[in-house]
Amino acid sequence: MIEGKITRISGPIVMASGLDNCGLYDVVDVGESGLIGEIIRQNQGCATIQVYEEDTGLRIGEKVKCSLRPLSVLLGPGLVGTIYDGIQRPLRELSEKSGPFLLPGIRTSPIDEDRIWHFKAILKEGDSIYPGEVLGTVQETPSILHKIMVPPNIKGKILEKMTTSGDFTIKDVIAVTDLGEEIRLAHYWPCRVARPFTTKLTMSEPLVTGQRIIDVFFPLSKGGTAAIPGGFGTGKTMTQHAIAKWCDADLIVYIGCGERGNEMTDVLTEFPKLIDPRTGRSLMERTILIANTSNMPVAAREVSLYSGVTLAEYYRDMGMDVAIMADSTSRWAEALRELSGRMEEMPAEEGFPAYLPTRLAEFYERAGRVSGLSGETGSISIIGAVSPPGGDFSEPVTQHTKRFIRCFWALDRELANSRHYPAIGWIDSYSEYADEVRAWWEHLDGDWYKIREDALNLLKKEQKLQQIVRLIGSDTLPDSEKLILVVAEMIKNGFLQQNAFDKIDVFSVPKKELEILRLMMKFYDLGRSLVKSGVPLVKIAECPVRNEIVKIKTTIPNENLQVLQVIEAKLETDFENLGKIYKKGGES
Ligand SMILES: Nc1ncnc2c1ncn2[C@@H]1O[C@H](COP(=O)(O)OP(=O)(O)OP(=O)(O)O)[C@@H](O)[C@H]1O
Ligand SMILES: [Mg+2]
Repeated sequence: MIEGKITRISGPIVMASGLDNCGLYDVVDVGESGLIGEIIRQNQGCATIQVYEEDTGLRIGEKVKCSLRPLSVLLGPGLVGTIYDGIQRPLRELSEKSGPFLLPGIRTSPIDEDRIWHFKAILKEGDSIYPGEVLGTVQETPSILHKIMVPPNIKGKILEKMTTSGDFTIKDVIAVTDLGEEIRLAHYWPCRVARPFTTKLTMSEPLVTGQRIIDVFFPLSKGGTAAIPGGFGTGKTMTQHAIAKWCDADLIVYIGCGERGNEMTDVLTEFPKLIDPRTGRSLMERTILIANTSNMPVAAREVSLYSGVTLAEYYRDMGMDVAIMADSTSRWAEALRELSGRMEEMPAEEGFPAYLPTRLAEFYERAGRVSGLSGETGSISIIGAVSPPGGDFSEPVTQHTKRFIRCFWALDRELANSRHYPAIGWIDSYSEYADEVRAWWEHLDGDWYKIREDALNLLKKEQKLQQIVRLIGSDTLPDSEKLILVVAEMIKNGFLQQNAFDKIDVFSVPKKELEILRLMMKFYDLGRSLVKSGVPLVKIAECPVRNEIVKIKTTIPNENLQVLQVIEAKLETDFENLGKIYKKGGES
């Protein structure tokens, strides 16, 4: 333990002397009340410390103690279903101790130390081990089988002692290596250091989100990175909540950094009630929440992304597909800006520090699909919301984020204003994962790529036509072009718009997502031949089946997709009849 003294205080940034022998990123206890801090700069006898708790009342001359270990998170069974702050303090337990407002310096173990877990051993005494190897398992929640792994930094090679299956707390030693190192159900890992893995793998499977525009038009791979940029109130949080609820990840780490507290409350109150369609269990049983809302200390917001991603890496190492939601990375960047300003660093664009892109990259780079040390394949997908001031995407956080992500779901103000939700603009958004997930989708339906391309092209054509319509009205357009407007309208209303508050529409299975679009494109193809053979567009547009297709999203539940064949047959006969009538009419 090394002791120093506070020499200067500037909000959450504190300078201290006497800590020369401490390492960069070591944790310190600051002041009489022992606030948690981290050394972020060492400069000739002066250590700069970032304090993660409210430090009002702190005085110059108070002590700073350093125990020479880096800021770490505790990894073990009991994490799932918990709500933490940025430095992994369990908020529920703390509120029981200190009430709704956290007292400075209050501590408690991140994971319940008294809870008993049933451990099923896989290895036995005398077995040789390697870092990351699975020693045994614990059923953490009914849907999560927690693998107890040899910590990656353990050096011993043989299990000198090893318990058999039984009931343990996270404090009990379950194994001892030949070098005398003790292994427990939980271990600490420094949150700024990425957990090691064997190899990075290519991505091939989509993260199915149940949101049609995302899955079909702009898919995200398991292990991919996506950004949701959008101005105020355009639906970033709603989109993230929808993905967190319905995506087919094994575990969700939801990081609320710098946004309103009530949004985290929404997650806390809604998730336990919602049922995961795959496991039939409560969604909270696969969710970890990290809350560092706008009213909480700004330094802890900076570290909350790293804490979150470390928890995700731990579950990835067990072979799970983890999805991280970060809402919002702009507030996180603002925390960086505030801290950098307090440290009197030279500002770069719009006052953000010059290392903003590096930090963003460090975060997004921890996504990926990997083969872990244990031999299991797991993935981390990161979905970050970006809130550019004034909805201006040319600002630094959006621009730099764009360099590190491969999926861009741009929220459009005009769509949001016209209550077209999710307001993801189909012209500005893109996904570079479409080719990687193609095989997966084509396994479901060989025409996926073609339907998607055709539909996107149709929407692009529609956008151009709308410019003409705005200038001279739609009357001058030939029927073949008016048909594009009709079908684009169908796609917008019946496919792209998805109501998060509708019981059936809230989430679509991939088959339903694609079938809706396929029927719409079939409507277009058949309609085009009808137009060519002289059928007036009004007759095609008036066909009742058109409305039926548009309404599939809210009328036909995911389990009842066979009805779609009936609608398809109806489309075929209705159009065939139309063709016949006009053929006869033409002949007579
Ligand atoms: N998919 C959706 N279905 C229905 N309504 C939606 C949907 N997405 C957004 N909304 C509506 O838009 C409102 C604002 O959404 P949200 O809070 O997600 O925006 P935001 O971009 O996170 O805003 P902020 O910038 O303030 O964080 C919601 O309260 C809801 O009424
Ligand atoms: Mg929001």
